[in-house]
Amino acid sequence: MTSTGQAAEVIRWCRQLARFSEDPNAITRTFLSKPMRDVHTALATWMAKIGMSVRIDAAGNLRGVCPARTAQTPASVAPRFYIGSHLDTVPNAGAFDGVLGTVLAIALVERLGARRFAFAIEVVGFSEEEGVRFGAPFLGSRALAGTFDSTLLERTDERGRSVREAIRHFGLDPGRIADAEAPAGALGYLEFHIEQGPVLENLNLPLAVVDVISGQSRAELTFDGVAGHAGTTPMHMRKDALQGAAAWIAEVERLALATPGLVATVGKISVEPGAGNVVPGRATASIDVRHADDQIRTRAAERIVKAGEEIALQRGLKMTWEPRLEQASTAMDDSMVAMLERALEQTGAQRYRMSSGAGHDAMVLAAKMPAGMVFLRCEGGISHHPSENVRDGDVAAALDAGVAFLDELERAHHA
Ligand code: GLV
Ligand code: MN
Ligand code: MN
Repeated sequence: MTSTGQAAEVIRWCRQLARFSEDPNAITRTFLSKPMRDVHTALATWMAKIGMSVRIDAAGNLRGVCPARTAQTPASVAPRFYIGSHLDTVPNAGAFDGVLGTVLAIALVERLGARRFAFAIEVVGFSEEEGVRFGAPFLGSRALAGTFDSTLLERTDERGRSVREAIRHFGLDPGRIADAEAPAGALGYLEFHIEQGPVLENLNLPLAVVDVISGQSRAELTFDGVAGHAGTTPMHMRKDALQGAAAWIAEVERLALATPGLVATVGKISVEPGAGNVVPGRATASIDVRHADDQIRTRAAERIVKAGEEIALQRGLKMTWEPRLEQASTAMDDSMVAMLERALEQTGAQRYRMSSGAGHDAMVLAAKMPAGMVFLRCEGGISHHPSENVRDGDVAAALDAGVAFLDELERAHHA
């Protein structure tokens, strides 16, 4: 099949997998939900058909191995190179964030046909990257990197079900998360991902190599006041938790606008008891703070939490907060960046390096092995939205770059 023909297949796959959703009217697929099993089944069938051995690890990651040339290197000791991305989505997502990178990885192995390398290739479809269900992202990649903190197992979703229970419910053993860790000596990790922004489209470039991924601080703040009757509680006697949260949200925007390059988002808020005629007694809000410079990010995150405390104090409320993520900015591996740039050039694409404002599994894997990423242009720069779209030609270029990269890795490995 030509690269363009295969690229069209990749896009078809992404659109088909988008049908496996928790919401009949939108694409929503969270950690170990039923549609995630359907995605696993479909992709595992494809991987098995092209000669890969497939398993689901205890963190719910889908993993398929294309063995090394066993004649030269016994499979048990062959080094391993990982390629993948995530299979979960945000609510009301597009069809390509994460899924494209996983499908592209399988297509790349399919493209190799009977060809085998001195290293094994393991494709990973991570179970969780977005942090939607449990408010903590990267559950899948943390297991592979060996940085899955066991306290994460106790975290609960909105229905009160813990990560541990979700893993058991999916038929997996939460006691075996440690077995999901990649063995030492891995050659590296490569992730293809849509850019999720407008830069490549504006430059009219199909692909870019990522050099650094911005750090993130995430937390949940709870404002506690006193619930009361909406008709009888005078305004000056209220302790309205939502009014406190609203004042704080406005302050978050003011602080972010005053700091160049900083982005801060309150993307979720819940109110208790949550009735139109009751003064809110409790408001819980998420906060996500990002900047390429870790010091600027952590200082801003501290100021944002402090602002919550001050506003609560002024209004006679109580504010408590729980950190959800502290992820430092992560540079991609220099030699992978250089190899990926050469691979891009071989496909005829111009060299272009850029940083990522979005978080990716690659930043977690970078703690364990050399990590690299390639961005694909996406239409209008739109992502985390149903209208995400990619071009056949760009996916074909990514496939060609992937083959060129593996060829160079093979040469480097023999050098
Ligand atoms: C992942 O999509 C993120 O939040 O950056
Ligand atoms: Mn995403
Ligand atoms: Mn993603």
